[in-house]
Amino acid sequence: MTGKGRGAFITFEGGDGVGKSTQMALLAERLRNAGHEVVTTREPGGSPGAEAIRELLVTGKPDRWSPLTEALLMYAARADHLQKTVNPARARGAVVLCDRFADSSMAYQGYAGGLGEGPVAALERLVVGTDGPSLTLILDAPAATGLARTSARGGAHRFEAKGVDYHERVRRGFLKIAAAHPERCAVIDASRSVAAVAADVAAAMHARLGLKV
Ligand SMILES: Nc1ncnc2c1ncn2[C@@H]1O[C@H](COP(=O)(O)OP(=O)(O)O)[C@@H](O)[C@H]1O
Ligand SMILES: [Mg+2]
Repeated sequence: MTGKGRGAFITFEGGDGVGKSTQMALLAERLRNAGHEVVTTREPGGSPGAEAIRELLVTGKPDRWSPLTEALLMYAARADHLQKTVNPARARGAVVLCDRFADSSMAYQGYAGGLGEGPVAALERLVVGTDGPSLTLILDAPAATGLARTSARGGAHRFEAKGVDYHERVRRGFLKIAAAHPERCAVIDASRSVAAVAADVAAAMHARLGLKV
């Protein structure tokens, strides 16, 4: 299915409230209807060990961790998630859909948190290596749009409490990543309706991976 002869790995990226979870659920249903085995997962988390680390990351005060500690915790969780969940699923040919992955570490800790590109890129090489996504869907919307959607949802977690400037830096970070990796990333305007975004997600699946959904 991919160049490496294993199942596709598709990541959903973008700020809080852009619609990652919504779009991932819709795509999972379409892929299952088309006969694919689909594994849906999320970061931080996605394996029992990584979910335990997630609790440390999403609870507590916004400044609980430095950007470096945050990145190390994210990558500790990611190493476990890849080893226990993502790689085994791909090895048996499943399509893996993941709500956030390594690009979130670069956008949040690297760009918005001020840790910088170098340290995060080093962790990515070490932990992800050649196990990275075959396609990354970057859902792009103004930070205020996403935050308005999540505040309607209620129960803001630690990252949502960091303020609109931080979230605008996150947005610019994702667009920078997309520009640096055009072969892997598709940027989708997520400020539109759920149906319009889903149509672009399906189009990217076909154009980039040859998967009809
Ligand atoms: N295109 C859209 N337009 C309006 N509301 C949306 C759209 N996509 C998602 N939502 C709503 O916005 C909120 C956040 O969506 P969600 O998928 O949870 O975003 P994320 O996973 O990126 O944080 C949810 O209440 C969802 O129903
Ligand atoms: Mg979500």
